Amino acid sequence: MKDWIKAGEIASEARDFGKGLIKIGKSHLEVTNSIEEKIISLGGELAFPAQISINNIAAHYTSLSNGDLKFKEGDVCKLDIGVHIDGAIGDTAVTVDLGDNSKLVKASLNALNSAVEIVKDGLEIREIGKVIHNEITSLGFSPIVNLGGHGLDLWQIHTAPSIPNFDNGDKTKLKKGQIIAIEPFASTGDGLIVEGKGSEIYQLEKRGNIRDMNARKILKFVSEKYRSLPFAKRQLPFNKLQLAVGLNALKREGFLHEFGVLPEKKENSYVSQHEHTLIVGEQVTTK
Ligand code: CO
Repeated sequence: MKDWIKAGEIASEARDFGKGLIKIGKSHLEVTNSIEEKIISLGGELAFPAQISINNIAAHYTSLSNGDLKFKEGDVCKLDIGVHIDGAIGDTAVTVDLGDNSKLVKASLNALNSAVEIVKDGLEIREIGKVIHNEITSLGFSPIVNLGGHGLDLWQIHTAPSIPNFDNGDKTKLKKGQIIAIEPFASTGDGLIVEGKGSEIYQLEKRGNIRDMNARKILKFVSEKYRSLPFAKRQLPFNKLQLAVGLNALKREGFLHEFGVLPEKKENSYVSQHEHTLIVGEQVTTK
């Protein structure tokens, strides 16, 4: 468990460091780079690219390979960070409010804190969802029901069980030593996300041979460096043409999956998120 705890500590430190960098007028890419450099300097590796999702985007937004955004007044900024040590992962998120959505931010924070409090060996998973749902609706918001927490395993960011943000009736019991992430999302909208356009965040689906030379080089690089963990296009040390041709071929032939950005179904809505990773019956690793 040593690596899980260390990964959690680094993720927490990087999250708090990143939280302090998010200010009106600053560049997303600069903040993202600073956070990712911080993780490496603390002795961790990225379990996934640092993600900053704004307003109605609930998750899966990272700085793109071309173009950049600036933080604006009124933005609700979700910062989601993943760190690994030899495949053991700490996954944690916080929301920074640059406007007047502090109550929304409080809703997902209260939900996370209350959920963490009840986690123990033998708890039915539905109970976590129930607590999250109650906290978020009591402040007048909707929990996002088709996005939530998850199990984690070595080199795997998303495994069973799903940890719901509402009572989904799942009577599966948590077991001591199991590693889970709890991540409540509170929304001013419908509480549903849809899959949007490509995020430039990819994950390896399979290994094998591919004819295109650029694709082969990229495949070798990501198989060794990221294995089964997600990575972003901007992190790949290849030129524009190699990336355009290679990534297309890898997607087309089923070697890579590209995640979609995940916006709320309702336009002009706002979403907040908080997340911790826990070892059931033992401790929260991302304090
Ligand atoms: Co997570």
